[in-house]
Amino acid sequence: CLLGIDIGTSGTKTVLFDENGTPLASSTVEYPLYQPQNGWAEQDPDDWYRASVQTIRTVIETSGVSPESIKGIGLSGQMHGLVMLDASGTVLRKSILWCDGRTTEECAEITETIGAERLIELTANPALPGFTAGKILWVRKHEPELYAKCAHILLPKDYIRYKLTGVFATEVSDASGMNLLDVKNRCWSEEVVSKLSIDPSWLPKVYESPEVTGYVTEEIAALTGLCAGTPVVGGAGDNAAAAVGTGVVEDGKAFTTIGTSGVVFAHTSNMVIDPKGRVHTFCCAVPGCWHVMGVTQSAGLSLSWFRNNFCTAEMETAKQMGVDPYYLMDKEAANVPIGANKLLFLPYLMGERTPHLDANCRGVFFGLSAIHTKRDMIRAVMEGVSYSLRDCMEVLKEMGVVSNEMLACGGGGTSPLWRQMLADLYGCPVKTVASKEGPALGVAILAGVGCGLYPSVEEACRKVIRTNEPQLPDLCAHEAYEHFYAVYRSLYPALKDSYK
Ligand code: XUL
Repeated sequence: CLLGIDIGTSGTKTVLFDENGTPLASSTVEYPLYQPQNGWAEQDPDDWYRASVQTIRTVIETSGVSPESIKGIGLSGQMHGLVMLDASGTVLRKSILWCDGRTTEECAEITETIGAERLIELTANPALPGFTAGKILWVRKHEPELYAKCAHILLPKDYIRYKLTGVFATEVSDASGMNLLDVKNRCWSEEVVSKLSIDPSWLPKVYESPEVTGYVTEEIAALTGLCAGTPVVGGAGDNAAAAVGTGVVEDGKAFTTIGTSGVVFAHTSNMVIDPKGRVHTFCCAVPGCWHVMGVTQSAGLSLSWFRNNFCTAEMETAKQMGVDPYYLMDKEAANVPIGANKLLFLPYLMGERTPHLDANCRGVFFGLSAIHTKRDMIRAVMEGVSYSLRDCMEVLKEMGVVSNEMLACGGGGTSPLWRQMLADLYGCPVKTVASKEGPALGVAILAGVGCGLYPSVEEACRKVIRTNEPQLPDLCAHEAYEHFYAVYRSLYPALKDSYK
C-alpha cells in the first residue's frame, strides 16, 4: 500500500491506498485558522503535526494492514506558508499562510531590489503577498528578535517531512511558490536569495516530486504505528498533487479545484509565463514539466464563511439528519434561478490573486434587495466563486493554454450543482475522477513512483485514475450566465480605488 498525507488549510487528511489507487482507510483532523488582523491568516505548525500523527495512527489501526506493507509515503499541503525554525528545530512563530495579505510593502521591496523583469526571468512569477519571500522579509522587519534566531525555513508539508524523517527537504512544485526558486532550472535562485540577503543555509534541499527525501524515524514509528525506515518522497504542493490525483499530467489537460482556495490548473511541458503575472507558472510534479494556474483566494472559504455565520439552523438540521450541511445548502441554491435573482457576490474575502493581484480588495454582495432570501445568497456565493474561476480560465485562454475538457475536484467539486455552473460558464464538459482523494492520491502515486512500484508518473496515472461521465454545458444557461458574468467583471474596476 501507499500513504498520502495532505496538510490542508481546513484540516489534515491521511489516506491509505492499495496499488490500484483504491482507498483502504481515511482520516481527517481539523484545526483552527487564526486571523489576528483583517487580511492576516496564520496556523500553528504543531496543529498540523498533531493532526498528522493522529490521522496516520487512525488509518493504520482502522485499515488493519500491516505497517510493513506500506511501501512509501507522499506529502502534500497548502502552499506558500512560512514555517521558521531555530537551530534546534523548534517552531519560532505561527506559520504565515498562503491567504495572508500583510506583505504588500515587502513585495514592492522585492520587486525594487531584483527588478520586475529580472524577477520574472528568474522565478517565473512576480512578487506576490501570498508567496513566501515577502513573509520572510516581513518577519525580518517586524520581529527582528525572532528573525535572529531563525536557522531553517520550511513550507507546511516540509515541516511534517522534517518531523517524520528529521530531514530538511522540499520539492520543486511547492518551492516554486516561494519567489526564491529558479523555476526554469528547478533549483534555488542564488541571485534572488543573495539580493534579498536571505541566508542560503536556511533553505532546504530541493528534490523532484517522486524522489525519496528521507525515511521514517524510530520515534515517529513508535508514535504512529508506521515502520521505521519507510521512505518519504518529495510529494507536491496541493495543486500539483491534485493534478497527479486527477491525471492532469499531460499537455491539453486541466482541472478546477474548489477547496478553501479555488484553482484552474493546466499542465504544460513547456514553460509559459503570463507577462502580467496574473497566473502562476510553477514546476509540476512530473519531472521536467510545469503548470500554469490561476488562483482565487476564497472559493470554498466563501461558502464555509457563509455557512458558519448564517446557516446555523441548516447545520443543526444537517446534524440531526446525519447529512453534510453543504448538501442542504446546495439544495437551497438549486431552487434559485441563474443570476440569483440579480444578486452578485465578489468572493474577495481574503483579497484576490487572479486576475487582480490585489491583497486589499474585499468581498461584496451587489444588488441586495428586500426580495432576497438566504437561498439567493447561497447561490450568489457559489456563482461568484464560479465567475472568479472563469476569470482564471480567461487568462489561461489568453496565454494559449487551453483544454476542451475540465476535471473538477476539491470539496466544492463534489457538488453536481457547482460542477454544472462551471460547465455552463466555461462552455465545456466537466468531469470528475472516480477517486475523491485528489492531493492525497496524487502524492501516494508519487510515493509509488519513488519506491519503484510504477515506472513513471504518467504510467501510474494511466493505471490508477478513472474518470466519470462528464456534465455537459447547457447553451441557454451559458447565455444567461454570460450576462451576469459581464456585470461581475464590471464591479471590481468600479470599486478598486475604494478599497485603499
Ligand atoms: C496556490 C495557493 C492555494 C494554497 C492552498 O498558489 O495559494 O491553492 O495552496 O490550498
